[in-house]
Amino acid sequence: MSPSDQVDRGRQRILWAHRRMPVVQAIARRWEVDRPLQGVAIGACLHVTTETAVLALALQAGGARVALCASNPLSTQDEVAAALRDEYGIATFARRGDSGQQYYDNIRSVLATLPDLIMDDGADVIGLLHSQKSAGLSRILAATEETTTGVNRLRAMQDQGKLAFPVIAVNDAHTKHLFDNRYGTGQSTMDAIVRATNVLVAGTTVVVAGYGWCGRGVAARARGMGARVCVVEVDPIRALEAAMDGFQVMDMAGAAPHGDIFITVTGNTGVIRREHFPAMKDSAILCNSGHFNVEIDLVELKELAVSVRPVREHVEEYRLPSGKSLFVLAQGRLVNLAAAEGHPAEVMDMSFANQALVVEWLARERPQLAPAVVRVPESIDRAVARLKLEAMGIPLEPLTEKQRAYMRSWQEGTTA
Ligand code: ADE
Repeated sequence: MSPSDQVDRGRQRILWAHRRMPVVQAIARRWEVDRPLQGVAIGACLHVTTETAVLALALQAGGARVALCASNPLSTQDEVAAALRDEYGIATFARRGDSGQQYYDNIRSVLATLPDLIMDDGADVIGLLHSQKSAGLSRILAATEETTTGVNRLRAMQDQGKLAFPVIAVNDAHTKHLFDNRYGTGQSTMDAIVRATNVLVAGTTVVVAGYGWCGRGVAARARGMGARVCVVEVDPIRALEAAMDGFQVMDMAGAAPHGDIFITVTGNTGVIRREHFPAMKDSAILCNSGHFNVEIDLVELKELAVSVRPVREHVEEYRLPSGKSLFVLAQGRLVNLAAAEGHPAEVMDMSFANQALVVEWLARERPQLAPAVVRVPESIDRAVARLKLEAMGIPLEPLTEKQRAYMRSWQEGTTA
């Protein structure tokens, strides 16, 4: 594809997502007039997708200077990066398949633009800023974090007294994790498995490791496609929820011989490891939708394997000494972004509306926040829900005056 065709294709795809993101659209329209981000420099490390492009263009419409790099080496949509750079003038440092070295160089390039605000997805920028005591650290007013994994890392930094500026946990807004993590990860993960393998999911046994919001979404969608779903969970309450949601709950050692498809979504490391691989069925498929590529221990799998070879796009075959083959998707990286297109625009609309409104709040009100992980203001969370409902044409039932008074009273109890 010629460079101009690539830019054109990227522009078309961004427009496709734009149509499906009415809440971010409405914010951008208001910002074009108000320009609340005039003079603000934003450094964003997000998956470089069509949906991220819509957010970046909204920030630009609000007056911000935006620099963007990828939050995963395999998630960049190159035509989107090309369009952002060449059509829309947004400094974009990302190429699909970047090496680990290049990935961090791209983050450094974003930091070299001297951002005031950081938008992170997985906390790699914030981690780098703090670990290298970067010169840019002192000018950062605040940051936002998009993912569960990133928020966990940031809480660990906070607990160790290491966090130097406030970070707003966008992931923890209701209008983010209840929808993006559940419906976005659920659909895009199953989409990626089907695109990469073309397997019939109906009738298979799918093992889902992790029953957080992402795991719930994946388990529900796999069940909806006709799979028998087995959940592996370390947390007693979540395990109980999975059991009462009707899933079989097992430990990984018990699940290993039964699974046809294994999906990790825990945010932890070494979830499927050396002792599990030999127990698996011939032709089992393994993939990960957690943020980092550490959930399936591919170092140990490689040590066990007699050969490793690509067999389809996004699929590698690991042959074990027993003669069995295990198939790993997308090198154990976020399968939904590497082998499909990530979450659909409709759900990113809510996640990125939160990002946008939080950045506006930070820029406009300059709230005095401690260097800690901070909740998204309730008013923003509810505003995103209302805007989304409005865009979907869904009305809310209004409270009557009598109901309002009843909700505030304590005198009324059991009617005699
Ligand atoms: N994370 C998951 N899906 C995404 C998408 N489509 N764009 C940006 N970040 C994402």
